[in-house]
Amino acid sequence: MKVLITGGAGFIGSHTADALIERGDDVILLDNLSKPVHLKGIPTYLHPKAKLIIGDVRDPKIFLETLKSVDAVIHLAAYQDYLPDFSTFFSVNAVGTALLYELIVANRLPIKRVVVASSQSVNGEGLYRCEIHGLVAPSSRPVEQLERGDWPMRCPECGREAAWQWTPESFSHPENQYALSKESQEKMALSFGRKYAIPSVALRYSIVQGPRQSFYNAYSGACRIFALHYYFKKAPTIYEDGLMQRDFVNYRDVVKANLLALDDERMIGQQFNVGGGKPYTVKEFDRIVAKISGCEDIEPSIPGVFRFGDTRNSCSDITKLRGMGWEPSGTVQESVSEYVEWLRGQADIGGIFEFAEKNMRSLNVIRDANAD
Ligand SMILES: NC(=O)c1ccc[n+]([C@@H]2O[C@H](COP(=O)([O-])OP(=O)(O)OC[C@H]3O[C@@H](n4cnc5c(N)ncnc54)[C@H](O)[C@@H]3O)[C@@H](O)[C@H]2O)c1
Repeated sequence: MKVLITGGAGFIGSHTADALIERGDDVILLDNLSKPVHLKGIPTYLHPKAKLIIGDVRDPKIFLETLKSVDAVIHLAAYQDYLPDFSTFFSVNAVGTALLYELIVANRLPIKRVVVASSQSVNGEGLYRCEIHGLVAPSSRPVEQLERGDWPMRCPECGREAAWQWTPESFSHPENQYALSKESQEKMALSFGRKYAIPSVALRYSIVQGPRQSFYNAYSGACRIFALHYYFKKAPTIYEDGLMQRDFVNYRDVVKANLLALDDERMIGQQFNVGGGKPYTVKEFDRIVAKISGCEDIEPSIPGVFRFGDTRNSCSDITKLRGMGWEPSGTVQESVSEYVEWLRGQADIGGIFEFAEKNMRSLNVIRDANAD
């Protein structure tokens, strides 16, 4: 099979390419090497057998040329950031996906499968349980609440503290520009796919971890921030009280899900959560990174700052994908170990760890709570 991976020079795309080539597929990568993800140009980790085409998924000419020569598409190209340039999210993520389907339909291309990367962010805060009102779907916490240092999610009916739930695919509540654009990608994949008989699958990844995650992307994961701090023997800052829960997923399990979605007929026309199946608090996660980095003696700083727009808890129910025979098997310890090893192998990383934080401070994304 010949597979096009859009965004294939990135973190998940390059690992997916390796796995496809390993099993004998031909792979084309369409990637515009966007900054700041690729500040240093073509990444050196790309598989020599993967054919890289440098181009934009919003460019109909180059997109059509690459689509003409493939049997299937894994559509990963995306704009991910905290920046308030709302239109860029829709231009890259939504318009890019619309163009993908438009070109397939207009040119009657015999594409056998399209796998579209969605994101756990479409859940927003996800589902919670209130002891009085049962299942509730709170919106993000008001900034006034966060400024008081009042971190928990509260029932929208009565204000009591509510308990997070594993959130299934049937739920969505996107609340920011990225999540809205990812939900639109997911909906297009399922609607256009069904309407025009283009077998499509949408995968809602949780926070994915592993080597090759760009150091420069401001949409930064805790893995990168903590690992970079410990690399420089500095204490990282943990936001809020550090008790936020996340179901981090290992990149190998995401690659496994991508390949399954390419192959398994039963998945067509549906979306699936791809999560780690196990919740970790950010504090617990910090200790894992510290231990692997050999820095257990460095305590993180928890000064009560918060990142504007962060969800309190993000944990996806993976029952549906498990029903397809998929099971997360990579551990958080493994993905962090591989990441730290990769980080140590980089040359010229002095100064980059301040890059994202400075960026976010200048954007007023990280804010102080006024709690005493
Ligand atoms: N990494 C995660 O934790 C995570 C979680 C949920 C969803 N996702 C989704 O998974 C996909 C892959 O993410 P990733 O972590 O590998 O990110 P990444 O930034 O490493 O890779 C994305 C790639 O897309 C390319 N790209 C961006 N705009 C483009 C354009 N207009 N045309 C062509 N290429 C373009 C970038 O150059 C980059 O190589 C994205 O769709 C993302 O939204 C990722």
